[in-house]
Amino acid sequence: MHEELLRLKEEALKDIAEAEELKSLQDIRVRYLGKKGLVTEKLKGIAGLSKQERPEFGRVLNEIKALIESSISRKEDILKAADKQRMLRSEAVDISLPGYFTTIGREHPISKILSEITQVFTSLGFTVEEGPEVESDYYNFEALNIPKDHPARDMQDTFYISDDILLRTHTSPVQVRVMERQRPPLRVIAPGKVYRCDSDITHTPMFHQVEGFMVDTDIRFSDLKGILELFIHAMFGPETSIRFRPSFFPFTEPSAEIDIGCVLCFGAGCKVCKDTGWLEILGAGMINPRVFEMVHYDPEIYTGFAFGMGVERITMLKYGIDDIRLFFENDIRFLEQF
Ligand code: PHE
Repeated sequence: MHEELLRLKEEALKDIAEAEELKSLQDIRVRYLGKKGLVTEKLKGIAGLSKQERPEFGRVLNEIKALIESSISRKEDILKAADKQRMLRSEAVDISLPGYFTTIGREHPISKILSEITQVFTSLGFTVEEGPEVESDYYNFEALNIPKDHPARDMQDTFYISDDILLRTHTSPVQVRVMERQRPPLRVIAPGKVYRCDSDITHTPMFHQVEGFMVDTDIRFSDLKGILELFIHAMFGPETSIRFRPSFFPFTEPSAEIDIGCVLCFGAGCKVCKDTGWLEILGAGMINPRVFEMVHYDPEIYTGFAFGMGVERITMLKYGIDDIRLFFENDIRFLEQF
């Protein structure tokens, strides 16, 4: 009978020794010590033994039970510790690896020059207004004294959406929109995108303009000159020479184109200024009385000037960039230089 108990003990200890995970250790506990476990069954069997046998059998069996219990819990500690080690090893972080770098974006050169231009004019008391890029023929042409069949329409290759709706070819329609809803005195700039069916190294189908205008009872050509001179000197430096050339726009009369001394060759003559020593940067003039009539301003009372400039062109001249397409190709190597 003792031998039977001894075998039970050996078997249990062997099972415990061989258990490799907590789960199988739990099974062993159930198999030996559970309600129907091998040790438990033996304990129940005590009742069937003779009086003499009982104490000795019970003592040995209890010893075995205690031994199995303590062996299981010791093994449990060992397996838990091993589990923890394994987890620590698998979750280890190699802090010697280099980190991930995030690249930080930069202001696009066009946005940069746009905000510089805006800054100059707002410091002179101009407010900023916007208008729609999808515009009607009326605001883009008619109200600016460019009737249908007027040859000046050829100056701008227009993207038409329907007979009456188009992509604005310039920011001048904002003049009309603002004058329709506000009364003088007005001091406004209107920056924005414009569209022309044109594409080469100095033209893209979409580009940016800044329109500017001032309307009051006593605005003269000399005001236009003064404001533009101040602007040009703020943008290109106080040494920059300026030239007004007579020109034509249907919505201004008289009209002028404004040149600055070539910022690349300083007048000596180069490819960019086509050996003239001058660069055209602005169109301007006194607002045509016909335009005032369209917005029900009395031309006998009000006068005003307007001007428009291409932001890409100004940016190219300021930074010496010779291909306008670079602005829209999103080449990081180009954009990082500003
Ligand atoms: N709208 C003209 C253009 O796009 C520029 C301009 C604006 C000229 C205002 C005179 C007055 O060429």
